[in-house]
Amino acid sequence: MNNSKVLNIILALCLFFLILKVNFKSLNNNNLEENKLTKTEKIDYTNIPKKNIGAQSVLYPCPTTVVGTKVNGKVNWIAIAHIGNIGHNKLIMSMHKSHHSNSGIKKNKTVSVNMLSESQIIPADFVGMKSGANVDKSKVFEYFEGEIKNAPLIKSSPICMECTVVDTYETEHHDNFIVKVENTYVSENVLNSKNKIDFNKVKPLLFEMPTRGYYKLGERVGEAWNDGKKYKK
Ligand SMILES: Cc1cc2nc3c(=O)[nH]c(=O)nc-3n(C[C@H](O)[C@H](O)[C@H](O)COP(=O)(O)O)c2cc1C
Repeated sequence: MNNSKVLNIILALCLFFLILKVNFKSLNNNNLEENKLTKTEKIDYTNIPKKNIGAQSVLYPCPTTVVGTKVNGKVNWIAIAHIGNIGHNKLIMSMHKSHHSNSGIKKNKTVSVNMLSESQIIPADFVGMKSGANVDKSKVFEYFEGEIKNAPLIKSSPICMECTVVDTYETEHHDNFIVKVENTYVSENVLNSKNKIDFNKVKPLLFEMPTRGYYKLGERVGEAWNDGKKYKK
C-alpha cells in the first residue's frame, strides 16, 4: 500500500468519526431538550392509569395564612390554609370547632387574615402547632390595629386583610366563617407601578396537606384570559 492510499484511509476514518461525533451530540441535545420539556411543560397524563385514593379534597398547594383574633381580650394567632375566595371581597375559612380562636371570632365578629412569606415558616408553623388554650401565642407576631376592633394585623406580613364575619356555615366538625374583607394593607415594596400586587415579591408560603409540606411559588408560565386565544381544535 502506498503512502497516499494510507493517507486517504486515515482521512476517511477521521471524517467518519467526525460525522459520528456531530450526530451523537445533536442526539444528546435533542434528548436534553425533550427532558426539559417533559419536566417543566409537557407531562401528558392521558395514558397514565389513575388510582382512586378515596374521598379526599386535594386542592393544594394553597397559601398558608395566619388568622388573628382576640380571645378574652388577648391576641391569638392560628395558621389557616383552608381558606378561599368567594367572589372578589369575601373569603371562607374553615376552622375546626375545637380551636381556641373560634370563640373569639364568634364573639367579636372580626378577624384578620395575614399572608406570610416563605421566610416566615417557623412562626407560621408554630401558631399552627400550639393552641392558645395552652400556650400564649400573643407575642409571636408584632401587630398593628387597622380600622376594625379585635382584628390584629401582622406587621411583618406583606398582605393583611381586616375582615368582618358576615355568615357561618357550620359542618359536622368545622365552623366555616364567611368573612368580608373591609380593608387590605399591602407593603408598598410588593406593589407595582399600577398598585397591583407582585406575588413574585410577596413569595407566599404555600402548603399541601397530603405530605404536610411547605412550598414556594414557581415562575409565571402564562397570561390569564389571553393564552386561551391560541386554542385550536
Ligand atoms: C400549615 C397549617 C395549616 C393549617 N390550616 C388549618 C385550617 O385550615 N383549619 C383548621 O381548622 N386548622 C388548621 N391548622 C391547625 C391549627 O392552626 C392548629 O390546630 C392551631 O394550633 C389551633 O390554634 P388555636 O387553638 O390557638 O386556635 C393548620 C395548621 C398548620 C400547621
